[in-house]
Amino acid sequence: MTTGAAIGAVFPIFRQINEDLAMPNSSSNSPIDSLQHEDRRFPPSATFIKNRVAEPGLYGEAQENRLEFWARQARELHWHKAFSETLDWSNPPFARWFADGTLNVAYNCLDRHVLAGNGDRVALHWEGEPGDSRSISYAELTAEVKRAANVLLGLGVLPGDRVAVYLPMIPEAVISMLAIARIGAVHSVIFGGFSADSVRDRIDDADVKLVITADGGWRKGKVLPLKPTVDAALARVGNHSVSKVLVVKRGENTIEWSDARDLWWHEALANAAPEHEAQSFEAEQPLFILYTSGTTGKPKGILHTSGGYLTQVAFTHKNVFDLHPETDVYWCTADVGWVTGHSYVVYGPLANGATQVMYEGVPDAPAAGRWWKIIEKYGVTILYAAPTAIRTFMKLGREIPQASDLSSLRLLGSVGEPINPEAWVWYREVIGSGLTPIVDTWWQTETGGIMISALPGITTTKPGSAQVAIPGISIDVLTDAGEPVPTGGGGLLVVTKPWPAMLRGIWNDPDRFRKTYWSSFTGTDGAPLYFAGDGARLDDDGELWLLGRVDDVMNISGHRLSTAEIESALVSHPIVAESAVVGASDETTGQAVVAFVILRAKQLDKQTEAEASVLLRKHVAEQIGAIARPRDVIIVTELPKTRSGKIMRRLLRDAAEGRAIGDVTTLADPAVMNSIVDRLAEHRPADFNN
Ligand code: WTA
Repeated sequence: MTTGAAIGAVFPIFRQINEDLAMPNSSSNSPIDSLQHEDRRFPPSATFIKNRVAEPGLYGEAQENRLEFWARQARELHWHKAFSETLDWSNPPFARWFADGTLNVAYNCLDRHVLAGNGDRVALHWEGEPGDSRSISYAELTAEVKRAANVLLGLGVLPGDRVAVYLPMIPEAVISMLAIARIGAVHSVIFGGFSADSVRDRIDDADVKLVITADGGWRKGKVLPLKPTVDAALARVGNHSVSKVLVVKRGENTIEWSDARDLWWHEALANAAPEHEAQSFEAEQPLFILYTSGTTGKPKGILHTSGGYLTQVAFTHKNVFDLHPETDVYWCTADVGWVTGHSYVVYGPLANGATQVMYEGVPDAPAAGRWWKIIEKYGVTILYAAPTAIRTFMKLGREIPQASDLSSLRLLGSVGEPINPEAWVWYREVIGSGLTPIVDTWWQTETGGIMISALPGITTTKPGSAQVAIPGISIDVLTDAGEPVPTGGGGLLVVTKPWPAMLRGIWNDPDRFRKTYWSSFTGTDGAPLYFAGDGARLDDDGELWLLGRVDDVMNISGHRLSTAEIESALVSHPIVAESAVVGASDETTGQAVVAFVILRAKQLDKQTEAEASVLLRKHVAEQIGAIARPRDVIIVTELPKTRSGKIMRRLLRDAAEGRAIGDVTTLADPAVMNSIVDRLAEHRPADFNN
């Protein structure tokens, strides 16, 4: 390998990781801690091996001929026209997979299962938060998607047009996404917790033509208003061409109505023709844009296309989750607003004809045992959830899950952030009766599908480690000079070969695409390597441990947020002069947002400062969404800066995490950190629930 840039300079936090490796901090969340002494191993049981889906031979096959391996996986899908070339990598980093083949993504997720005689199989067991429920068969789901496709066509949506989806976790979210895909249009799903400003930015960036939303959705026993947020987002003139808004009735909350613009979903579907024949599109037809935080204030529109994406999500869903579609009941708890919801609620499971549970609400509504009651009710066999949720349940105590019958569970998955060995073992012991394999799956919005994971029935699992690249995926850990690290070493995670579900670009920004992901390292063949932005370590067995982000991206409860995005929300408030945001480790949420703020008015009493801090937390939630609300806003009079004026975030992280402050000699004023530490000590943690 050769290197294109000195990573230490580009990603100063990388140095921090090296320091952490040398001197683990005291946080029990840190996988690095346990890495030194983690010797628990869980080999697959004989019964699991007997019925396993994944063949051990997959590794060898992929090793021998990676492209032919992926071509074979792709042929499991229904192609209207077969492809003749697997990969065109003649113009890196722009890849084309299966490019001369044509297919219809929705047909693969629906019609072909009905035609195969599985129309009566339940596709979705949907559970509303208030307790209402609906089971929808593949035949019914297909019929609904056909009508919805006809509605979209009637509204003038053409192949390639962008449609925004801002919905709660209700079947119509899945139906919308599939209907958009069915007609070759591109969905941009916006998480229902995002604010009007965030919705508007996303609608503008992709020049959206139509928005699908709901009056409201149920969350924590209340109706979360969605349509009013869309109204507010569209009220300001933007760069988009939205002329219609389709509205699903769910919350029954009072909403304003524009006769010229708004249409009820149920009326439009009732009036639509029931038949729709799926047309085929090129494998590289854009399927969706999904915005994710980067290191600047502006979220990136990650673009995914059709054939390669569907191939990898179907393959991984089947093999990583050991899916037996005739008997399994699968539940991925992610919201469709995130990539996990795209790949492992919608496309992977439906491409495989799985029966799954979809739940609208939060885990503790109306009471803390809701998830476990749902598992008991539907006999869930495979559960895919995030470490934050697992750690929260751990804190609440095992009595709560143990009040439900969880004996149907036979496989557990984890995603979104590193899972510490203690949480991993608790998950297996308490939720999985000490028997279920656990797959810790590493991947990203950009990778589209799972990249690193154990394969159940094959891999001997190891708490806290994501373990090995899946067959057909090439991962390496490099030093900042671009050399592979030896076993036991830490470095930067890269993907060394193109993969089918890889992002095809950043919407409207090819330069940022190249710069962000492909400019750090070059392979021996001269092609750029994909830099994921994560630190990783290879243990003595050569297995992978993910160490978190090395850039200014935070991971809060498995959701990505950038420090710059929150800083710009803070300084948009008139009382703020300057701000610096860091992600500090948090026992439950992995990381938490801690903001240091200098106010314009310098001499304030403590009471006024406390009020400012509450006000600013609320302001960030309004600007971006509740997930971005800082855990703490600390009012300070100065920030630690170098002589050239750069804020030293790692010192702020040290302070926020209660560690000894690192080297301050490069600060313009080394005394600044003392007053910041004092401020932190005075700060009473804000009320997390408001
Ligand atoms: C982190 C979510 C450790 C990582 C699918 C990555 C993980 C970012 C894991 C992507 C895991 C995801 N172990 N870290 N199993 N899975 N991450 O785009 O930092 O929302 O870069 O995709 O989450 O977050 P994203």
